[in-house]
This record gives sequence, structure tokens and C-alpha cells, in this order.
Amino acid sequence: QKDGYRFFMEKEIYEQSDVISDTLLGRLSDDEIIFEELDTKLFDGINEIKLCACGTSYHSALSASYMFERYSKVRCSVEIASEFRYRQPIMNKDTLFVVISQSGETADTLETLKMAKKAGLKTLVICNVDNSSMVREANASILTRAGIEKGVASTKAFATQVTVFWMLSLYVAKLKNSMNTQELKHQINLLREIPLSVKVTDEMHERIKRLSKRYLHGHGFFFIGRDIFYPLALEGALKLKEISYLHAEGYPSGEMKHGPIALADPELFTIALLPQHLLYEKSKSNVEELSARDSTICAISALEFDKADDFIQINQCKDYMLEFFEMMIVVQLLSLEVSIRLGNDVDMPRNLAKSVTVE
Ligand code: M6R
Repeated sequence: QKDGYRFFMEKEIYEQSDVISDTLLGRLSDDEIIFEELDTKLFDGINEIKLCACGTSYHSALSASYMFERYSKVRCSVEIASEFRYRQPIMNKDTLFVVISQSGETADTLETLKMAKKAGLKTLVICNVDNSSMVREANASILTRAGIEKGVASTKAFATQVTVFWMLSLYVAKLKNSMNTQELKHQINLLREIPLSVKVTDEMHERIKRLSKRYLHGHGFFFIGRDIFYPLALEGALKLKEISYLHAEGYPSGEMKHGPIALADPELFTIALLPQHLLYEKSKSNVEELSARDSTICAISALEFDKADDFIQINQCKDYMLEFFEMMIVVQLLSLEVSIRLGNDVDMPRNLAKSVTVE
């Protein structure tokens, strides 16, 4: 069933191109996004979108918040489900409450959905499992089409969630008239390019395999990025820690100088996300500060970067969102290869379950 791959996680990383194509299928026209499953009335009177989830799904929600504000021009907030449910949140009726879940069964997320419904909010779920508890509970649902995800470490579910959010933010942009037609068409053409961006090449995989041996022992890892690359940094750190058992943190690059840079030394590994098309100069200078303090740096970028100890080059892309997907592949493969070198069971990490149905 692993079709020659060493682990399901590896197979699922390689499947991402196909499952993203499936997720896009029938949903793109020349100048609009089609969600047959949605009634546009869901967005009537909505002035804010609140996203709520756990773990990797929370990271995709965080990435969505940048897209909803930038493309749809709608206020957006993001919540960790286990926090939200106990803090007596204010819930206004002009808020669309969106939960995100691969399984549709995560106890904390399901509970927040019930709370929002009880408070009279309209609800939507982005989910990978049809007929799951969340799909049955929400007013509306959009299914990601990732197929069955076996590895505990989520990869293709995350990729399809971000894809759906990119489409949804454009769908809302069109409804709210917050993007001109030319830009909308451009964005739709970019969406069509994601499947190619996430194709794993032998060259890339071999490079990461070789390089991974330098990142096995140290005090820990910082994955850093700015803007939407910050949620990707969080996701990269989560992937690494859950399957390699090494300490890793995701951090906004610009925040390092407010404390964490004190940790910088050669045993501190920094995985730096340096997109060419978004805040490149600013991100670069944050990495240079860490380099000057002797942190061991692995930079991921389309542009040559000589202040790093290691450099993983992604393809030149037209847009930062395509860079996001290219870098996603890199951080997933890096975690995979580190974990394999450490001799861990990648698909069944200790202390974790695929679906967390108890709080
Ligand atoms: O099924 P869900 O998306 O609701 O699960 C939420 C988290 O438990 C899940 O994303 C978890 O963080 C992943 N195993 C991380 O790889």
C-alpha cells in the first residue's frame, strides 16, 4: 500500500500534486471560483470571518487569515479551539464561524462549532471527511479532496486546506467586489499552477536527504518567516517536532531580536523561509542578524543567499503564494528525512493519534 515509499508520510507528500488538482477540479472558471456546495446567502451580512481549529489545521487557518484580509478585504481572526471554548468569547452575528479539520472529529473543534451555532452564528466547515461530525453539524461545508491521510503528521490535508482557502478568499473577494476582474483572473491562473509547484523532483529530494544529516543534533530549531510564511514556519516546526522529537519553534522573523536571538549559537539551527516576492529584503536582514551571531542557518529561497550554511533553492515562481507551496514541500521533506535518519517510526510518532476525539 505504500507503493514503494518508505512511509505513508512520504507517499502523501508525493501525492500532493494530484490531490491539489482534485481539490481544484471543477472549481475554477476563467474569472470566478465555483463552489457548488455553497449558497452565497451564507455571506449576506457578514463583516468578519472567524477561523477555529487545532494543530496543522490551525496553521492553515492562520495562513487563511492573510488571504481573507488581503484578497477579500474582510476582517479575519483565528482561534485555537481548545482555548476558544473556555474563554467566554464574544460572538457577533455578523461573523461567519469557520472550522477546519482533516478528520471532522477533533473534539475541541467540534465543540466550538456547536457553541457558535448555539450563539446563532452562521457556520462553515472545511473538512476532508464527508459525513463526519463537523460536516453534519455545520450550515455549510467545503470538502478538501486529499483522500485518506494515513500518516499522523498531516501533509496533503494541509496542502488542500490552504488551496481551498486561497479559492475561498477569491470567492469572497468576488462576492464583496473587493478585487478587480483582471486581478481575479490572474489569481485564478496562479491557482492552476499549484500542482506543478508541489511536484517533488528527485534532485530536490536527494539534496534534502543529504543535507538532513547535518541537522540531527543541536539545541533546537527555529523555523522563521514573515507574513503568510510565519504560519508555514509554525507548520514546519510542528512537522519536525512531532516525528523527530527534536525541539523546534516557529517564529516570525522580525520577532527574533525581541528575545530568541539570545539563543543563537552554532548549535541552534535556523530554517529561514525567504520568499523572493514578499518582504524579501526585510526577511534577509533578519537572517543576516542570526548569521552574524553564529546560528547555523539553512535558507530556503529562489534567490541565491550566501549568508547561510546551507541553501535549498526552490524554483523561481511568479508569486509568493506559489513560493509558499514550494517551501511547504521543502519543510515537509526535511522533517521526513531527519526523522528517518534518527530511526523513528515516521507514521506512528510516539504519544500521538491521528484523530483527537477526546479533549
Ligand atoms: O483532524 P484535524 O485536522 O482536526 O486534526 C487537528 C490536529 O490534531 C492535527 O492537525 C495534528 O496537529 C496533526 N497530526 C499534525 O501533523
